[in-house]
Amino acid sequence: MICHIEVYGCQMNVHDGEILSGILKAAGHTVVRNAKIAEAVFVVTCAVREHAETRALGRITHLAGIPKKKPIMVLCGCVAQEHGEKLLKKIKLLDFVIGPDVYHLIPELLQERRRLSVTDQGAEDYEQVKAVREQFPRSYVTVMRGCDNFCTYCIVPYVRGRERSRPSELILKEVEKLVEAGYGEITLLGQNVNSYTHNGMNFPKLLEKVSTVAGDRCRVRFVTSNPRDLTAELASVMASRENICNQFHLPAQSGNDRVLKAMRRGYTRNGYIEKIAMLKELMPDIVISTDMIAGFPGETLEEFEDTVSLMKEVRYDYAFLFRYSEREGTAALNISPPVPVKERLRRLSILQDLQAKITLEKSREIIGREMTVLVTGPARRAGQMASRTMGNRLIILESLDFTPGELVPVRIVKADGYTHFGEPVSV
Ligand code: SAH
Ligand code: SF4
Ligand code: F3S
Repeated sequence: MICHIEVYGCQMNVHDGEILSGILKAAGHTVVRNAKIAEAVFVVTCAVREHAETRALGRITHLAGIPKKKPIMVLCGCVAQEHGEKLLKKIKLLDFVIGPDVYHLIPELLQERRRLSVTDQGAEDYEQVKAVREQFPRSYVTVMRGCDNFCTYCIVPYVRGRERSRPSELILKEVEKLVEAGYGEITLLGQNVNSYTHNGMNFPKLLEKVSTVAGDRCRVRFVTSNPRDLTAELASVMASRENICNQFHLPAQSGNDRVLKAMRRGYTRNGYIEKIAMLKELMPDIVISTDMIAGFPGETLEEFEDTVSLMKEVRYDYAFLFRYSEREGTAALNISPPVPVKERLRRLSILQDLQAKITLEKSREIIGREMTVLVTGPARRAGQMASRTMGNRLIILESLDFTPGELVPVRIVKADGYTHFGEPVSV
């Protein structure tokens, strides 16, 4: 069967899309980018915010109409896990609704003549699957799945199930193969990588081992970490290993202690600031990013101002900013009073304006600096190649004379926040 996969949501979903692709290929199906010729369409959905969900469901209707004959429509991912059977009943276009832990059943299900929803959780970690990676020279490696933190606004623990860590031997073997195949970057994946634990091995120790196996031709990153679990041990492993990227995504969510407590985040503003200080001291050129939520239920104007001041104090390189979105079944739904949606949007736009300014300033700070970039592939504009710094900044090279995977020393000559331009220098 000719299959088309479309993915929404976080890196875990992106990698699940690669796993799904591997499962389909192993069963003899062909995976294509062109939806027009597809006989089966898979939409891997995200449920973390309302608009993510609405958009994915909109795509179902759109995609179903693209090929001449209506394709088999399969809803996968977190929305599938959340609503299962209910969606199958509601959306007649759907043939299958499949949760994130049962993709291995898909080849079998495709032969079924009845519509089905399957959302069993936790039993399968896809150890037997060879993922089809789409982003050479960059690659994802799962270290853990699920989340046990139950932050009060978040649906992830419900749709992704309980935390489970992969055996380190399997992770290291996967890394070894990727290095042999010439991959230049590995991102270790988990909703909360710092909770990694397997046979007495914690995340810092795993990271150190991965870094050793990756060697000097391959960079290592990881997402995501809850600030509560960021330890001095992790920071020192990062600082001591050259191939571990000086980059940290450390979502604060709020700058106010009362709100952080209501979110059940498990750290305070000061505790958070101390951890940032530790990272900056050990790695002065570290690139730091965050997620923030505007208008969490009960957030007063004063409390919101604490988020503004935290952003000014830390001066994040990048920030992913969201307005609070109600999620069914989460504890925050019962916190009152809710902040009116209009006010959430107003607060969000204040954060966005502030961050745009800081991102621009921080990106201009690196003009004139020299750094080694990893060439990742053609840029959007013709005649240019894209590359990434250790800090994961996007650097455009104005020539096609580079191959993906190549490491190139460059000087930064221009910067406008998200995009920078680099000129090769000789060393
Ligand atoms: N595991 C990651 C977060 C995954 S969800 C972590 O803990 O850092 C990605 C981001 O979506 C979160 O950091 C949060 O900022 C945002 N988010 C999650 N639930 C949300 C909700 N109900 N409304 C608005 N934003 C939300
Ligand atoms: Fe959601 Fe919190 Fe788990 Fe992150 S750590 S996925 S925000 S519950
Ligand atoms: Fe979204 Fe699921 Fe990731 S809800 S953020 S795709 S784990």
